[in-house]
Amino acid sequence: MRRAAAILSASLLLVSACSNEAPPIDAEVAPEPAAATEPALDPVTGLKMAGDWEIVRANCVACHSSRLITQQRGTSQQWLTMIRWMQKKQNLWQFDPDTESKIIAYLAENYPPSDAQRRPAIPPELMPPNPYSVEK
Ligand code: HEC
Repeated sequence: MRRAAAILSASLLLVSACSNEAPPIDAEVAPEPAAATEPALDPVTGLKMAGDWEIVRANCVACHSSRLITQQRGTSQQWLTMIRWMQKKQNLWQFDPDTESKIIAYLAENYPPSDAQRRPAIPPELMPPNPYSVEK
């Protein structure tokens, strides 16, 4: 008999513990804090899903991780310089002007210069000579 009472009070305890955790029925669901301002991230590439992000996905992740893009920051001019460098040195294809300006606008808007950015790349003419270079 005492055992049954113990089980009963234990299960009463459990029930009351559970009901304590249940939210009030009329509780409002709090909005996601950043949702309104920050665009969501594409789960595959990590690119911000805003504006023309799909054009960037279509043209910019074939050769390297999208992380190279999302960790980089720059003005329109800096992004253009990176694209020109890849076109000259890394076989990046040419874009028609409309596509190119959409890509640059997306990048400059979503990955603009910030305090925590990497240092700019050293211009080639300021690099020390590379004894192993195969380029003339
Ligand atoms: C045809 C291949 C190719 C495509 C397509 C390509 N890249 Fe690159 N990109 C490269 C290579 C190669 C590197 C150098 C990778 C390394 O250093 O490991 C690079 C490096 C980068 C870097 C790092 C630059 C730095 O200074 O560290 C960024 C940022 C970048 N690419 C952005 C882009 C963007 C934006 C696009 C789309 C417009 C793009 N890439 C499309 C080949 C490509």
